[in-house]
Amino acid sequence: MIVNETLKTIKQRRSIRSFKDEQIREEELQAVLEAGLYAPNAGDQSWHFTVVQNRELLDRLNLAAKEVAKQMEMEHLRKLGKNEKFNCLYGAPTLIMVSGNEHAPVPLEADCAAATQNLLLAAESIGLGSCWIFFVLLAFYSSEGSELRKQLKIPEGYRPYCSAVLGYKKATVVNVPDRRKPNLITYIR
Ligand SMILES: Cc1cc2nc3c(=O)[nH]c(=O)nc-3n(C[C@H](O)[C@H](O)[C@H](O)COP(=O)(O)O)c2cc1C
Repeated sequence: MIVNETLKTIKQRRSIRSFKDEQIREEELQAVLEAGLYAPNAGDQSWHFTVVQNRELLDRLNLAAKEVAKQMEMEHLRKLGKNEKFNCLYGAPTLIMVSGNEHAPVPLEADCAAATQNLLLAAESIGLGSCWIFFVLLAFYSSEGSELRKQLKIPEGYRPYCSAVLGYKKATVVNVPDRRKPNLITYIR
């Protein structure tokens, strides 16, 4: 079996949901962002990255997202919304939102997802913890949604499709290699 650093990073990465308070270093943030910008894209880089490192805003996003979750049909989301202890950003000090231009000639969800995967892999490769976060995007459907968009300076015409949190993993967290389901590949040769 071929093993190299890239393949090791891909297999080692696990979603991390417990972070130290300490902010990540600027050069770590820049390395992760640059990896995001190098992702494949069909929309000619019609994306925008929003880095949120302001604790007050992170808390507001969490609370606004939970308010929306409380009203949702999916029971597990409703439960999370009502759970006072649940923080959808897991206390991470950095959130990166990836938005796409809604007027681009191609749908940008896939571009934003590819960029987000690059963020996660880059984070793992330099020892940071990360987690893809859908939940926080619910905040934009709250009564505060448009005010939050303004504060986050999301460019006009852009829609946040994906997001990820980053931070230093708590010492107790280990990346347990996840078992992947079998029989997910068909070969036609
Ligand atoms: C589109 C997408 C949305 C996700 N949203 C969340 C989320 O809101 N909260 C969360 O804790 N994990 C979220 N995850 C992480 C998944 O739960 C996780 O990737 C999956 O359980 C596999 O575990 P692993 O990342 O450790 O391999 C999301 C993943 C994807 C791809």
